[in-house]
Amino acid sequence: MFLFIPCQVGCERVLKEEIRELYNFNSAFSRAGFVTFKVPDELCVDDGGETIRLLMTHLANNSIFARTVSIFLGKLYMSGDFEIPETEHVTATSQSGCSRTKHTDHTSLNISAENLVESIWQLISAPKPAAPIGYGISSAVSQPKYFINRVHVFSRDCLMTGQNGFEPAVSSDLVELHSKLVSGCPFPKFLGVGSERFDQPAFVGETVLDVVRVDVDSYTQVNSKFPKLNMETQQCEAVVQEQILTPIPASVYFVGVHFVTEESPIHSLYSGGILPIQLPTDAVSRAWLKFEEGLRWSGISIDAGASCVDIGAAPGGGSQVLLSRGAIVLGVDPAEVAPIVLNNPNFKHIRGRINQTQRFLYKNVRWVIADINVAPKYTLDVLEDVLKYNSKINGMLFTLKLSTLELAKHIPQFVKRIRKWDFNNIKVKQLVFNRHEVMVAVKK
Ligand SMILES: C[S@@+](CC[C@H](N)C(=O)[O-])C[C@H]1O[C@@H](n2cnc3c(N)ncnc32)[C@H](O)[C@@H]1O
Repeated sequence: MFLFIPCQVGCERVLKEEIRELYNFNSAFSRAGFVTFKVPDELCVDDGGETIRLLMTHLANNSIFARTVSIFLGKLYMSGDFEIPETEHVTATSQSGCSRTKHTDHTSLNISAENLVESIWQLISAPKPAAPIGYGISSAVSQPKYFINRVHVFSRDCLMTGQNGFEPAVSSDLVELHSKLVSGCPFPKFLGVGSERFDQPAFVGETVLDVVRVDVDSYTQVNSKFPKLNMETQQCEAVVQEQILTPIPASVYFVGVHFVTEESPIHSLYSGGILPIQLPTDAVSRAWLKFEEGLRWSGISIDAGASCVDIGAAPGGGSQVLLSRGAIVLGVDPAEVAPIVLNNPNFKHIRGRINQTQRFLYKNVRWVIADINVAPKYTLDVLEDVLKYNSKINGMLFTLKLSTLELAKHIPQFVKRIRKWDFNNIKVKQLVFNRHEVMVAVKK
C-alpha cells in the first residue's frame, strides 16, 4: 500500500526524513512538491481499514511538512503514445486500503483526455481496474470500492511558495475538472451536501476522492541536422550532429482517497490542504496569508476587544488579521508600519526591538503573534521573556525561521523547550502559506 503526500517545493527531503523518523516508511515515487510512501505490509491488517484511518489521521496531525495524506489507488496518464517509465510505477491499494500483491500494470492506465472523468471513477468503482496500460477504459462502472462523499482536485506546486509571486492555489481548469467529476459521479446519492461547490469544506465522516495532477516530463529525442562542407566534394551535406532532448509534459493524475474524522486537521477539509484564503487588496504583506491560515489551523479564536501583541509587526499583515477580528493590537517592530495599519484606532506601534521595550506594556496582553526574522533560538528567547512578565497569556502563534532546511532537524528540541511553557496544546506545521519557516501554535 502507498500513501501520497503533497508538500512545499524544496521540502521533499525533510518530509521523507520526517516520515521515516515517525513511521519508518520509505519513500517511493517523488517529484517536487509531491512524495509517495510505501506502508509496510505489517500495518495492512484486515480490519476494514480502521488501522489505516487511524494512521492517516495521526500522520496528518503530526507531520510538520505533509499538507495532506491520501491512500494511493491508481494513476492515469494522458500522454498519447508515451510509455510509462518503469521507475514511475507505484503499487495499487485494495479496498481495505492494503495490498500485498502487486497490480502495477493495472493501476497505471494510459488514457485520453475525454476519458479522464470516467477513468477516475472507474479506479474508485471497479473491483478490479478495467484495463491494462494502452488498452483504454472499456468496462462499465460496477460496485464502488469507496463510497465517495466529496471530491478534491489539485496539482502539486510547481514553485516554492512566494517564489516569483507563486502562491499555492487550485487552477481554474482543475476547478472545472472538479465540477465534471461531481456531475459524472456514478454514485451521486453518496455525495455530501454542497459537494458541487469547490470551496465547500468536507464534513466529518466523509470519504474524499483526491485527484492530483502531477505533470511528469518525458523527453523526445530530436536529431538535429546542420549543413557541413564536404572537403572532397565541396558540397554542403546535412549532418546529424547531436540528439536534443525536448521535454514533453505528460499529464499524470494520481487518484486516491482520504477520510475526514473528528480529529482531522482543517487542511484535510480542502483540496490539497489549500484553505480558500485570498490576499485582500489592502493587505500590506503576504504575512497576512500565513496568519489568517495560522489562526484557522490552530483554532485560536480572537474575540473583539482581545488585547494582542504582534512582535515583528512591520509592515503589518499579521496585525491586519488580528484587527479584522476586532482585536486591540500593540505592534512591536523597529521598522516602519504601513499607514493603513497605523491609522487603525485599535493599533499602536511600539517602535523598537522587543528587548528594548518596557515589559509593563504587555501586562494586559492575552494573545501573542510573532514573526521575527531571526534564528529560532532567539524567537524562543524573546517569547519566553514575554511570558515571564505575563502569566495571563492564553496562547501564541509564531513562526520559526528555517534559514536552512538543516534546522528542521532541531524542531524536536525547540518543541521540548516550548513544552516547558505550560501550555496544554502545542502544534507545529509548515503551513501552505509559510515559506522557509514553520508555524507554531500554543494555547491553554
Ligand atoms: C518577516 S518581517 C515581519 C512581517 C510582519 N509580521 C507582517 O505581518 O507584515 C520580520 C520583522 O521582524 C522585525 N524584527 C526583527 N528583530 C526584531 C526584534 N528583536 N523585535 C521586534 N521586531 C523585530 C523586523 O524589523 C521585520 O520587520
